[in-house]
Amino acid sequence: MKKVKFSYKFPSIISVFLLAIIGCGSSNNRASFKTNLANTDTINSGMKDFYLDYFPIGASIAPRSLNDQESRLIKKEFNSVTLEYLLQLKHVYKEPGYYDFEAADKLIDFAKDNNLKVRGHSLCWHDQVPEWYIKDKSGNILNREQLLARHKNHVETMVNRYKNTIYAWDVVNEAISNEPKEYIEKSPFQQIIGDDYIAKMFEYANQSDPSAKLFYNDNNYINPKKRKKIIRLVNALKKSNIPIHGIGIQGHWSIYGPTEKELRETLDDITKLGLEIQITELDVSLHPKNNKEREKKALLLLKGNPNQEELQAKQYEMIFSVLREYKKYITGVTFWNVSDYYSWMDKPSIKHRPLLFDEDFKRKDVYFRVIDFK
Ligand code: GLA
Repeated sequence: MKKVKFSYKFPSIISVFLLAIIGCGSSNNRASFKTNLANTDTINSGMKDFYLDYFPIGASIAPRSLNDQESRLIKKEFNSVTLEYLLQLKHVYKEPGYYDFEAADKLIDFAKDNNLKVRGHSLCWHDQVPEWYIKDKSGNILNREQLLARHKNHVETMVNRYKNTIYAWDVVNEAISNEPKEYIEKSPFQQIIGDDYIAKMFEYANQSDPSAKLFYNDNNYINPKKRKKIIRLVNALKKSNIPIHGIGIQGHWSIYGPTEKELRETLDDITKLGLEIQITELDVSLHPKNNKEREKKALLLLKGNPNQEELQAKQYEMIFSVLREYKKYITGVTFWNVSDYYSWMDKPSIKHRPLLFDEDFKRKDVYFRVIDFK
């Protein structure tokens, strides 16, 4: 196969196109595909360019992302960002009546300066709420009307502030219970307001910015029982004409799952809802989620399991080829964190290495598998 060398003179989009048609094919071609790509490394083309005809490619960012190496990588590879935690209620709404947007605004400015789309995460997640939020000045638990008023004020504050920047919000996060027999999680929000706190949040968000895309975001869609409950919730919202536009599938996965069949079944079920779909928090750990199993498997890794990286590459390859097939429904794929330098899952004893870039912010082999559209 003819090798093509790219120079600075090539506009990146042409390089991307040529690479797509030249670099694909049998596994023998993979090495030359990778070499060709390595030659383009200095050109400003990245994952976002390879996926231009599919969906925006995002990453979650935090203050550390503004450092030289990470910010350079983000600008090159991604065209969308989500603030990892800085827009969560407890991080901005620090005390009654006092919001602190300083840290979040720095990241929002970075996104604006670099033309990155911004997803808002999240307006309502019971896990990220300080004690005082559900209490009055005397420490008494708020009643339904009081808590709804507080929610409304919070949603208005957030959505109005970022109206011209944030195009999509995860309005409610993880409201469905992971307990098989429970429907909506019995969080303080559910217990004080009732199940309809979810619908109310969507209404408040829509009133504040009618043009924002409003998402319900959750995990464990791969589990058919959990998925059924999410579908039940979304259908109920739609039936009541609640403004909901998208489904956020978090996608904290691993080399042990999901299988291709499970992923397809999940997407087939979710597409039937007729809403946009985004993969909002993608990572593929080298370890299973369950701690006990993780320790067992991690030991295998320590002993030097040569298959681990290959399994990750295969898993990512499978995930992205399936996602490309569903591009009609998918309006964004966002990785949770940027490179293996930092993953939210890491512990001092265990690195999960779940992303496409290594600890030195360099493309891993798996990266080339994800942009190799066979
Ligand atoms: C969930 C949340 C995110 C984040 C991750 C872990 O998936 O939606 O906000 O907290 O867990 O970092």
